[in-house]
Amino acid sequence: MDQKIAEIGSQLQKEFEAVKSAEELEQLRIKYMGRKGVVNDLVKSIPTLPVEQRKTAGQLINKLKNDINGKLNNKKPAEESVTTKKKGAGLFDVTLPGKSIPLGNKHPLVKTLDEIKEIFGKLGFEVEYGREIELEYYNFDALNIPANHASRVDFDTFYISDKALLRSQTSTVQIRTMEKRKPPIRIIAPGKVFRPDTVDARHSFMFHQMEGLIVDETVNFGDLKAVLHLFAKAYFGSDIKMRFRPSFFPFTEPSAEVDISCSICKGKGCSVCSYSGWVEILGAGMVDPNVFKAVGYDEEKYTGFAFGMGVERITMLKYGINDVRLFFENDIRFLSQFK
Ligand code: PHE
Repeated sequence: MDQKIAEIGSQLQKEFEAVKSAEELEQLRIKYMGRKGVVNDLVKSIPTLPVEQRKTAGQLINKLKNDINGKLNNKKPAEESVTTKKKGAGLFDVTLPGKSIPLGNKHPLVKTLDEIKEIFGKLGFEVEYGREIELEYYNFDALNIPANHASRVDFDTFYISDKALLRSQTSTVQIRTMEKRKPPIRIIAPGKVFRPDTVDARHSFMFHQMEGLIVDETVNFGDLKAVLHLFAKAYFGSDIKMRFRPSFFPFTEPSAEVDISCSICKGKGCSVCSYSGWVEILGAGMVDPNVFKAVGYDEEKYTGFAFGMGVERITMLKYGINDVRLFFENDIRFLSQFK
């Protein structure tokens, strides 16, 4: 018996050395340690031995078992890593194109807002942000729109409580800025405004405006025209035309509505410009002395101009977008066109 076990020991030593793959190793495991394997056969033969030999035989078999287990464990990880490396090497094709990770892009309105900020930034304008939830005072009273004044109807407004509302125009930021700063002032104020309009291709209950305000000692209407012309040419291109129509806003005097030549049909007439060749993009005017009074500025000393532009409107005109709802539906097929 001792002899037999020693022979098995040296035989298995050779077989283990010859192992080249995980499969071969598994075959060895089955051969020696399997239910019908060599070791089990030895164990089964113990009762056939003379009683005095059984104990040593048992010990030798145990030793052999431990030896085999040790070999199996030592060999395994090395074998496995060799085979995986080999497999990996076969699969890796350096000529394949890499995985492309899709890049996001800015929302078209964010793009426009960035461009606006850059254009006005070059003209020395700083950016101010007001509040979306406002007091009636900033949306109306301080802007020379007294209670019960007919023009409150023009700025149809979501009220939250008696005195609080969702701002219906960014002109609120004119007041907030003048309250905390002294002239000279040169700011733009982009942001959301809210009006209870029924949603359709041209209307939304929320949209964006961009307010502008300059206050200094000698500001005049010519300055207003110059700044707006510069902006329109920078944003739409140098062949854009602009016209001023007399209008009325309680917080500016004189006031104007400003149109640009329709950028879709180049002024020839189309459905976007209602076949007039012109589209309104903003309201503007010289700051009304009553507004200066409301913020405690000397209305004899200072003059200023203000304007309020529709951000969706100018974006639609620039890219030929015909429905304002596209900005808010988050359809990736639309959004991904603005790389
Ligand atoms: N707040 C006005 C509007 O929403 C636009 C405007 C701003 C007009 C500043 C004049 C001066 O229609």
